[in-house]
Amino acid sequence: MIRLSKRIERVEPSPTLAISARAKAMKARGIDIISFGAGEPDFETPEEVVEAGKAAMDAGKTRYTPASGIPELRAAVADDYERRGRNVDPDQVIMTVGGKQALYNATQVLFDPGDEVVIPAPYWVSYPAQLHLAGAIPKAITTDVSEDYKLRPQALRQALSGSSVRGLILCSPSNPTGSTYSEEELQELAAVLRDFPDVLVLYDAMYDRIYYDGEVAPDLVAVAPSLAGRVLTFNGFSKTYSMTGWRLGYAIGPSEVIAAMGILQSQSTSNATSFVQYAALEALALDDSVIAERRDAFRGRRDLIVAALCAIDGVSCPTPSGAFYVFPDFSSFVGEDGQFEDDLELTKYLLDEAEVAVVPGSAFGSPGGLRLSYAMDSKTITEGVERIKISLNALTDQ
Ligand SMILES: Cc1ncc(COP(=O)(O)O)c(C=O)c1O
Repeated sequence: MIRLSKRIERVEPSPTLAISARAKAMKARGIDIISFGAGEPDFETPEEVVEAGKAAMDAGKTRYTPASGIPELRAAVADDYERRGRNVDPDQVIMTVGGKQALYNATQVLFDPGDEVVIPAPYWVSYPAQLHLAGAIPKAITTDVSEDYKLRPQALRQALSGSSVRGLILCSPSNPTGSTYSEEELQELAAVLRDFPDVLVLYDAMYDRIYYDGEVAPDLVAVAPSLAGRVLTFNGFSKTYSMTGWRLGYAIGPSEVIAAMGILQSQSTSNATSFVQYAALEALALDDSVIAERRDAFRGRRDLIVAALCAIDGVSCPTPSGAFYVFPDFSSFVGEDGQFEDDLELTKYLLDEAEVAVVPGSAFGSPGGLRLSYAMDSKTITEGVERIKISLNALTDQ
């Protein structure tokens, strides 16, 4: 047997694989599964962006670019943030192969073995995996459904008080909950962070334009500029512009950290795909109405799914302000009080009985919840949640 590195052995396979393998097998047998599992918008990439990508290829933009990205795109990203009230120089921006690579580069250049990094749970699955790859130790802290799964200042203070805490990862709007910190809430967290000057903050804003209480979700550095020297902001094109397959993201941060990430990138992927970067210039130049139209569609679906889930006995579901996920609490169905040993068992039941695929909260460090993506048409949302309701009611009717 080939011996694999200890590094890769530290990374656990996704706990959702079993469910998605089962869902796929059922689909292959012709069963009409409704899947709430998708992590991507169901819209097409805007036509103008597709055309710009083709034009860039025709114009021969098919060669290596500078590792950190073409200068005009770094400048366009900086301008985009300037418009949001934040001062950003192009050398504080690095373009990466998806937002995921930006996070990967950051964890690799910032953390050493043994460093602890606080992540509020429910968290996005790649945070602990990437921290493990860097040898760092994820320190998950629980948040509560009654508080919209938001990290409270007191809990942050307590979590940071350990001497080896080196970082904090915040995701707003959040995958998996959709919760979004308001300016006031960010200010309160920033006030705590000021007492811990060595703590770095990774602020994942991948869904910031899919936000229902305004045009764009609040940005930590715009709200608390004094933190600018130790915050890295992550964003990208996948979610806002439905460009998941194009693989383009970016990070903004202190120029010395961005330069270090550039060195790492120059020795790994070299650069984000050349013509994709040119297409992204077009995406940034799009009229805001393109984003607004999609946001309005998502908002209608959010209202629909929250109301439908809340109508199921034993389920509570906060109304998220962003992203396209809901994270209802199903804890009354699992553990000592419930009919299922854990949320994985519940998920399997829903797949077999309701023919509906959802992701168990334990995948996100929050057992008892379920993540549902509503990146689908309203009719499918209504039918899928109805199926869940009927299958759960059948448990109590027995
Ligand atoms: C919270 C969060 N951050 C980052 C990413 C990375 O996005 P991408 O690599 O597609 O740009 C995702 C994608 O699912 C996400 O949900």
